[in-house]
Parts: sequence; structure tokens; C-alpha cells
Amino acid sequence: MSVPIRAIVITVSDRCASGAAQDVSGPVLAGLLTEFGAEIYEKLVVTDDLENLVEILEIHSNRADLVITTGGTGFSPRDNTPEATRRVIEREAPGLAEAMRYKTLEKTPFAMLSRGVCGIRGKCLIINLPGSPKGVAECFEVIKPVLRHAIETLSGENTHNE
Ligand code: MTE
Repeated sequence: MSVPIRAIVITVSDRCASGAAQDVSGPVLAGLLTEFGAEIYEKLVVTDDLENLVEILEIHSNRADLVITTGGTGFSPRDNTPEATRRVIEREAPGLAEAMRYKTLEKTPFAMLSRGVCGIRGKCLIINLPGSPKGVAECFEVIKPVLRHAIETLSGENTHNE
């Protein structure tokens, strides 16, 4: 029996938070995580405000094994997700972000425009995905094979090295 993974999905978007646009990526991500076998503890839609995002990431990384964000990773002045994530993580996990960009470049050169970072805070893994549903699906596919192992290792559940 595998250990349950408690996941929190955070959509970062001024437009979705204000109701000007519908959040499509959050539900897509939650669906992929459920299919993967994770339990969705909570699904949030928040603005791109940096200080608020830092607080949200701090609070929610204390209550989950996995916090995955979608959106706010691009070049626009309000794209603050990587900066907020860097403020809260204690250890960076660059391989995950590198792999997502590198592998999905085969699908679109725009993968280069996501500045998403991944890292560890306590026993929680925080992952930034791009904002589009397509980007979410493509990037999730890349990290999926190592996600359970990464989280189990973090939680101390993995007592052997594979
Ligand atoms: N990565 C993948 N794999 N697929 C995509 O469609 N979209 C890109 C990029 N990363 C995309 C992707 C685009 S168009 C942008 S602008 C950046 O992610 C940043 O998106 P965000 O600001 O919504 O996070």
C-alpha cells in the first residue's frame, strides 16, 4: 500500500482571482493529481500579489506533502510566483524545473518563457507550473515518474535507495 500524498493546488492569477476569467488550469491540475493518486486537500485561486503569495505558500506548505502552483511564472511585471517560491523554500530542487523546461521544449519553444522553480520547505515539495492548461499537462507528465519517490523520500517513508 502506498502512502497517501496530500496535495494543495494553487492557481495564481489576478484575472481568475477577480472573477474576470475562469480558472481552467487549477481543475486540470487537480484532475491529473487525483488520477496520479494524490488527495486534493484544497484548491485555491489567488492573486499575483507577491507578499500574499509568500504567506499563502508558507501556510499551505505546512499542511501538505505537495503544493503545486499554476501561473505567474512568465515575464509580465505581475508574474511573481518564482520569487514567492524562492522566498519560502529552504532547498531548491532545480532538476525538476530543468527537466520540465527541457523536455517540453520539444513541444513548444515557449517553454523557455516559464521561470518556474521547484524546492523543498520542511517536508513539503513546492512545484511551479506554467499557467496554461496545456503547459500544466505537459509539465506534469515530465515530473510524474519521480513525484511519488521524491515525496516519500522527503517524508522519510523511503527507507531504501532505488
Ligand atoms: N510550457 C509548456 N510545456 N507548454 C506551454 O504551453 N506556455 C509558455 C510557458 N511554458 C507553455 C510552457 C508560455 S506561453 C508562457 S508565457 C510561460 O510558460 C509563462 O506562463 P505563466 O505566466 O502563465 O506561468
